[in-house]
Amino acid sequence: MSSLEKVVAKPIVVVGIGGFGREVIDIIDAVNAASPEPVWDLVGVVDDAPNDLNLERLSLRGVDFLGDTGVPLSWPNPVSYVVGIGSPRVRRLMAERYDAENFRAATLVHPSVTHGFGVSIGPGAVVCAGARLTTNITVGQHVHINLNVTVGHDSSIGDFVSVNPLASISGDCVIEDGVLIGVAGVVLNGLTIGAGAVLGGSACAVRDLAPGVVAVGVPAKPMGA
Ligand SMILES: CC(C)(COP(=O)(O)OP(=O)(O)OC[C@H]1O[C@@H](n2cnc3c(N)ncnc32)[C@H](O)[C@@H]1OP(=O)(O)O)[C@@H](O)C(=O)NCCC(=O)NCCS
Repeated sequence: MSSLEKVVAKPIVVVGIGGFGREVIDIIDAVNAASPEPVWDLVGVVDDAPNDLNLERLSLRGVDFLGDTGVPLSWPNPVSYVVGIGSPRVRRLMAERYDAENFRAATLVHPSVTHGFGVSIGPGAVVCAGARLTTNITVGQHVHINLNVTVGHDSSIGDFVSVNPLASISGDCVIEDGVLIGVAGVVLNGLTIGAGAVLGGSACAVRDLAPGVVAVGVPAKPMGA
């Protein structure tokens, strides 16, 4: 590309008008502000059940609400999309729908994020401000890595995982698909958190968690155990 050619910002739709969806808009703004030319052209937000307060919040920042999540599917040209919905299960449903129509999942990384050598981040993933990923880390599709999360060396994070603010995943961990790590949750080094498991807020996993388990406390134990 010649240096005279203008870079065209890519159209993007955010799925989800809730808190995280609007935080994703902040990341889009931050990415654009940090680039010589805007990377993204935010077309608007879609949501199946917007409430009045969130519609007002969106309108206050001058972003369009486009309608329900089916609206972009009727457009002639697929645009990029990102799902700003915290639930791994709902996020998967949305992504499957858009991917089936050849929409492109955008990967959004806040400019303040740091990472070392050999870190790969999958399509649809959102990495929020202040996150630190050290070295040799794989982050799957549609993963949310929230504010100030740390991920240690040689860890892998599967698809549709949510890692909530301040959580800390130590080195050599395997976080399988669809896991939710609650706010300030800690996973000690070398552990596997099984697919679909939930580590509650402020819990500390000191042993592997089986798939689907919901564990809380320090040390984390399955709820009701
Ligand atoms: C673990 C979790 C998924 C359980 O949710 P839930 O099934 O709706 O649980 P409830 O709120 O009904 O609480 C059930 C019991 O577990 C306890 N509990 C819930 N979460 C807990 C936690 N993180 N640590 C310790 N105990 C917890 C409650 O005190 C309650 O105990 P009780 O029966 O003795 O009163 C949820 O509490 C959690 O921690 N989610 C993460 C939230 C998060 O990260 N938020 C930030 C978003 S950015």
